[in-house]
Amino acid sequence: MNALLTFFGRLHPLWVHLPIGFLLLAMGLLWLSRKPKYSGILPAVEISFLLGALSAVFACLSGWTLSSDGEYDLDTLQYHQWFGISVAILSLFLYGLIRIKKQRYLSNFSLLLFFGVLMTGHLGGTLTHGEGYLTKGIFSSSDSLKAKRKPIANVQEAVVFSDIIQPVLLDKCSGCHSAIKQKGGLRLDAMEWIVKGGKDGKVYIPGDAVHSDLYARVVMDPLEEKHMPPKGKTPLTEAETQLIYWWINSGAGFTKKVKEVAQPEKIHATLLALQSATIPMKKPDIPDGMVDPAAQSILDTLREQGIAVLPVAANSHFLSANFVSIPKPDNRTVALLSKIRAQLVWLKLGNAELSQASWKIIGECNNLTRLSIEHTNLSDSSIALLSGLNQLHYLNLVGTAISAKGLQKLQKLTALENLYLGGTAVSASELAGLQKIFPSARLDAGNYKVEDLPTDTQLLKAPVVKK
Ligand code: HEC
Repeated sequence: MNALLTFFGRLHPLWVHLPIGFLLLAMGLLWLSRKPKYSGILPAVEISFLLGALSAVFACLSGWTLSSDGEYDLDTLQYHQWFGISVAILSLFLYGLIRIKKQRYLSNFSLLLFFGVLMTGHLGGTLTHGEGYLTKGIFSSSDSLKAKRKPIANVQEAVVFSDIIQPVLLDKCSGCHSAIKQKGGLRLDAMEWIVKGGKDGKVYIPGDAVHSDLYARVVMDPLEEKHMPPKGKTPLTEAETQLIYWWINSGAGFTKKVKEVAQPEKIHATLLALQSATIPMKKPDIPDGMVDPAAQSILDTLREQGIAVLPVAANSHFLSANFVSIPKPDNRTVALLSKIRAQLVWLKLGNAELSQASWKIIGECNNLTRLSIEHTNLSDSSIALLSGLNQLHYLNLVGTAISAKGLQKLQKLTALENLYLGGTAVSASELAGLQKIFPSARLDAGNYKVEDLPTDTQLLKAPVVKK
């Protein structure tokens, strides 16, 4: 029975379109019927109002069932309820007026009804989508709640709660636990609410993270229904999880500074990382999109060959391949890369002497963001094969015979941020010209402004190309 009731309640968002449709139709026809030409359609108006009224009553009942879920903002819910009930009553009333042929007040009341339908619908939308969902796209794209993470210059001076914990909760939890929505009766957008807890009571026990809902729900098996944030929402990062654990275990205070709180070894690095996060962090060279996983058999083959193939991040199918443990990568092994060309984003393949065909295969791995091919036989002619790698942020050509002229063939690689050219045939005087080709790249020619010693001249010569 309960399941049936739940089903009935969940029908509400679907069902409400019926009264909206019937009533708008009824009002439209009513308006038309005032023209002599359409005066005959009044019976249709009557039926439309009746259908609208009945479906509105049904919508009220299903809405009532749904509301007992208790996951909605109470104020909005009440307004929505009363507007909904008014719509049902008003449309019954209008039906009655037409029945007894009292036409005088029809248009005034139907205007009122129109307003009622509009408000009920809008409030219903607010309940499910959150406040301002209607205008969000027009007036501002950013969620005002999402506090900007304040720069932390010296993490020891930061306030644990407001500078470190609160931004995490605002970012990852306030979508469902704030003034707009209070799922589980819980708000996490300010201290007083966090202290208050949700419908099941307190959400944390100072000094005992493991038995605190606020932490336990974040670390439980993500497949569990109680896991927070629920499926489909961005989960907390490892660092964020650690920070919440640390905060609760250290007593979950709201005013203490980091330096006043015990800092176990484990949390040290995480805290320091917060500090460096204020230096604008570079994109982590991982594409935004999704990719299918590479076939396990291919990965096994690559690994058997001694290539270190690893995911670039947890939960990512993008791969990095590192040939570093292979002294002399050969063409046969490189050919295997074509099987993971969609997944491959970082490739490190130094000291190789490759055929044109192999360079072509590498040039076809066009999701590559980092490519290290230092001390390889890449030449001014084979470099053209890499000209399609337009996702590259990082390109290491150290110790190759590449010249400035050859690099011009890469001019489409506008995403380049770091280009390493030490020990190539590029001379210092050519760097300015190259900078024009790669305006956003940092060119590194390996000139670290060390005074030349006679013995250094050896290093400055173009390296001998291994043939
Ligand atoms: C997409 C919406 C959504 C997001 C985002 C979300 N929650 Fe929830 N949360 C819910 C729902 C729904 C419930 C009620 C059902 C339940 O208890 O599992 C709930 C309940 C809770 C409860 C139990 C409250 C009580 O007393 O019953 C806690 C604690 C909680 N959430 C913590 C969090 C934390 C921490 C985050 C951020 C990391 C978060 N939630 C993010 C939807 C969300």
